[in-house]
Amino acid sequence: MPATRIFSEYDVGGAMGTLIKNGTVMNSDGSGKADVLMEGEKIAQVGGSIDPKNHTIVDASNLLVMPGGIDVHTHLDMPFGGTVSADDYTSGTQAAAIGGTTMLIDFALQSQGHTMREAFDTWRKKSDNKACIDFSLHMAVTDLGPGDGAQGLREMEEMVAEGISSFKLFMAYPGVLMIDDGLMFRVMQKAAKLNALCCIHAENGSAIDIVVAQMLAEGKTAPHYHALSRSPKAEAEATHRSIALADMAGAAVYIVHLSNAYALDNLKFMQKRGARALAETCTQYLVLSLEDQMPGKSWDEAKFVFTPPLREKWNQEPLWNALKDGSLSVVSTDHCPFRFADQKSLGRENFARIPNGGPGVENRLQIIWHYGVNAGRLTPEKFVELCCTAPARIFGMEKQKGSIKAGLDADILLWDPNADYTISAATQRMATDYSMFEGWKVKGNAAKVFSRGELVVDNMSQPGKFLGTTGRGRFVKREANAGGLA
Ligand code: URP
Ligand code: ZN
Ligand code: ZN
Repeated sequence: MPATRIFSEYDVGGAMGTLIKNGTVMNSDGSGKADVLMEGEKIAQVGGSIDPKNHTIVDASNLLVMPGGIDVHTHLDMPFGGTVSADDYTSGTQAAAIGGTTMLIDFALQSQGHTMREAFDTWRKKSDNKACIDFSLHMAVTDLGPGDGAQGLREMEEMVAEGISSFKLFMAYPGVLMIDDGLMFRVMQKAAKLNALCCIHAENGSAIDIVVAQMLAEGKTAPHYHALSRSPKAEAEATHRSIALADMAGAAVYIVHLSNAYALDNLKFMQKRGARALAETCTQYLVLSLEDQMPGKSWDEAKFVFTPPLREKWNQEPLWNALKDGSLSVVSTDHCPFRFADQKSLGRENFARIPNGGPGVENRLQIIWHYGVNAGRLTPEKFVELCCTAPARIFGMEKQKGSIKAGLDADILLWDPNADYTISAATQRMATDYSMFEGWKVKGNAAKVFSRGELVVDNMSQPGKFLGTTGRGRFVKREANAGGLA
C-alpha cells in the first residue's frame, strides 16, 4: 500500500480535536497502523503516530478504523402497499448508526400527476429535523407531465441542481410506480445529458402481474407464492432491457437489488460489451434463500416477502463471486420495514396484498463482515469498498465521504472484528417486531461510531443506544458524475 494514500494532512487551523490512537486504519485501497485526528466535523490528519497535544484520546487498540457505512438503498416513512414503512427518519437513521452506517440514500417517490418538486418537498419534510445521520435522496420518476415531457425533463435539471444526481425508474409495480419503456428511455436520454445516474428496479412487472392473477385464481394465496410469482427470468429480462436502453441513450445505469444468477449473467454480458452498467445486491440475497426461509410451510414466511423475492440457494455463491470480481459494486439493504403483526397481516388471505419489504439497515455490516470477511469470501479492504467507498464514489460524494482521508467528513466507524453479537428483534432499534436474522450469532460489530466528528454510538459502553440529538443529520448534495464511470 502506498503510504501517501492514508498518511496525509489537512489544515483546519490547529484546533483541539479527538485523536483515535492505536487502531488499524482500513481503507478500500489499503490498511495500516495509524492514528486519526478529527477536528470539528472533519478528518484533520491520518498518520503513523500523531502528537496527543491537548486532544481527547480514543483508544482503538484491537479495533479497525473504517469509514462509516453508506447504505444507498432505504425506504423510510414510505407509503407503500396500503400502509407506511415502519421506520421513520429518526428510528431508521438511529438503527443505521447503531449498526455502523453513517450515511444513507433514501427515495423520494414522485406520484403520477404530481411534480418531482412536490416529491422532493414531501421527503424533506419527512427527513429534516428527524434524520440523525447524514442522508440524501434519489428521485423516483413516474411522470414527465403532459405532451413531450418537457416539463418533467426540466425538473430533472432542477433536481440535479438540488444535489439529487440519481433517478430511480421502476419496471415493476404496474399502476403504482411502473413506467413504460418510452418514458424510461426519455429519462435516460436526459440523464445522459446531465451526467446523472439511472437506478433501475429491474423486473418485468407486466408479466409478473399476469402470473400473480393466475396463481390467486388457483387459490395459491400463501407468502411462498409471492416468491414463485416473480421469476428470476423476469428480473433477468428487465436487467438486460434496461441496460440496453441506457446504452442506446448513452446513460450510465445502476441496477438495484440484483438477486439472482440469471440477472447477473445479463449484467455481465452488457458490461463486457462496454455498457456503463453497475449493480448492487442486498444483504438478504447473499444469506437467505427460498429453501431456508420460504419453503411454503407457514404464514411466518410473510416476514420475507420482498421484491425481488428470495431465490434458490445456489444463486448465493455467484453473487458473492461477483462482489469479489467487481461485476457487482455495492451491498445495500433495500431496508423497507413492515411490522409482522399489523402490517404484513394485510395480506393474510392474499400474498399480493402483503406489503413487500424487509428490515435490514442495522445488520448489513455485521452480516457482510461475518459471512463475507470471516468466511474468507472478502478481504477487509473489499468489505470497505463494497459498503463504504464505492457507494460514495458511485453516488457522487467521494469528496465528502467514504474513506479515512484528511479533508473528508469525520464519519468514522471503529469496528471490533472480535465482538460476538446475537441479532434479535428484542434488542434492535429498527421499528419492526421481527428480525430477518433472528438468533443469528455473528463475530464483528460496530464498537464506536462518529458522525461528522461526534460520537453518536458507543456499543462498548452503551450498546444499542443512539447518543446524538434527533435531527442532527444533514441533507447531502451529491455531484452528477455518471456513477463515477464518466
Ligand atoms: O420489496 C421491496 N423491495 N420493497 C421496497 C420497494 C422496492 O422495490 O425496492
Ligand atoms: Zn425495488
Ligand atoms: Zn427498494
